[in-house]
Amino acid sequence: MSTFYEFGLSNALIKAVSSMGFEEATSIQELAIPIALKGKDIIGQAQTGTGKTAAFGIPIIEKCDPHQGVIQGLVITPTRELAIQVAEELNSLGHYSKIRALPIYGGQNIERQIKALKNKPQIIVATPGRLMDHMRRKLIRLQHLTTVILDEADEMLNMGFREDIETILSDVPDKRQTMLFSATMPQPIQDLAHRFMQEPEFIRIKAKEITVSSTEQYCYKVHEKEKFDALCRLLDLHSPEAAIVFARTKRRVDELSDALIKRGYFAEAIHGDLTQPQRDSAMHKFKNGSTEILVATDVAARGLDIGSVTHVYNFDIPQDPDSYVHRIGRTGRLGKPGIAATLASSREMSHIELIERSIKRNIIRKPVPTISETVEEQQRLTAGKLFQVIETDEHLPYKGTALKLLEDSQAANLLAAALKLLTKEPDQTPVHLTDADLWTTKKNKPGKNRKKQGHHRKPGKSAKKNNYIQDGSKKKYNSV
Ligand SMILES: Nc1ncnc2c1ncn2[C@@H]1O[C@H](COP(=O)(O)OP(=O)(O)OP(=O)(O)O)[C@@H](O)[C@H]1O
Ligand SMILES: [Mg+2]
Repeated sequence: MSTFYEFGLSNALIKAVSSMGFEEATSIQELAIPIALKGKDIIGQAQTGTGKTAAFGIPIIEKCDPHQGVIQGLVITPTRELAIQVAEELNSLGHYSKIRALPIYGGQNIERQIKALKNKPQIIVATPGRLMDHMRRKLIRLQHLTTVILDEADEMLNMGFREDIETILSDVPDKRQTMLFSATMPQPIQDLAHRFMQEPEFIRIKAKEITVSSTEQYCYKVHEKEKFDALCRLLDLHSPEAAIVFARTKRRVDELSDALIKRGYFAEAIHGDLTQPQRDSAMHKFKNGSTEILVATDVAARGLDIGSVTHVYNFDIPQDPDSYVHRIGRTGRLGKPGIAATLASSREMSHIELIERSIKRNIIRKPVPTISETVEEQQRLTAGKLFQVIETDEHLPYKGTALKLLEDSQAANLLAAALKLLTKEPDQTPVHLTDADLWTTKKNKPGKNRKKQGHHRKPGKSAKKNNYIQDGSKKKYNSV
């Protein structure tokens, strides 16, 4: 591994990198940065969570001139949340070099973006739709652009976005550096990429597997009707610090998060039909830990880097193996441990086998935990918490009362009662989840008069209510 000094970077960038806590370059950074600094086009592929953002971010910052108030770099991302995140990382990297990156994405007030553009950022990080909007209105001019990056490039060149990318690239200088990055790079996409790249260098970090080895992968065979209870049991057994639960459709995400809230979990939904403030709020609560579960469509599958995510659950199986790779890549980032659990019905098992062949790794089959297993685990967790309190001496002010109680009752009875009060017991509150098979036929699509569901309190904390507004926008990625 190289240190960042070995790339011959400016002092300002070295300072930024070390203040971000980066000591050594990751494999993709080690290979891509020197080539990118030479100005060459790159197609870069490396596992999820291995620092691809800085692999293109460091060279782009180094190349930009802070004294020129024109847009010199453009990064295109498939989702708004990813645009925000990449812009944040570029701003950290560019802090001492005085290079500024601005996220430009749909759903945000356009006037606010116009105002921010007046501050003359050197780099724009944009989702395609809103970028084209600004380009049409001549609010963003890209004639001085020297670098274009497609993050999640295979997704950006997939059918949903390809036309937009072609439109954008037809409006930027031919003499530019183009870099493509993703954890997955199917051959047809690589072939297509050559059309608008100049002799790109293909950099691929050879790993034994496409998915990261630090993430344990499990599959639970379960009937559709028992899926929700199975998910709840897994959540109780695993007690994730933060988990993302992926579901197939926007409506299913809504139903699922409502159902989880009803059963006493802190859950938030994110998908393309929510307004941007709702999406921002869900992300904010999830990142700051006030929500432990983010229920999402594939809108959250790519690029998002939230260090606290310990578990990813595929409530519905992903559409294809690449989608599986990205979804479960939200955990186990940069060598951290992670757990990925996929629920599948017996007829979906062939799909699981397809994924296994594609990622060249076994997804371990496990039985759904029984109620008594989850109860045992919850009690063990509560006991652990009791010992933690003893270690911190926080229990001392309660000792007098405890001694008095012991005069009247047996110690074991008192302790058992305390454990009962503190332990999350299996919640059987009935919930409504439309059968997944019904989602596929339009005729049977669940009605508009879906009942708003209430929510229950978790011991000691107040559950927050989700409000979902259908904004009807047809923008890209609102399909999920
Ligand atoms: N050299 C480094 N040392 C320490 N941490 C790093 C280094 N480079 C990047 N990171 C951190 O590693 C995490 C993952 O990086 P990043 O999001 O760029 O991964 P990625 O390869 O783009 O993943 P994905 O394929 O999911 O988009 C981030 O939190 C980032 O700040
Ligand atoms: Mg990334």
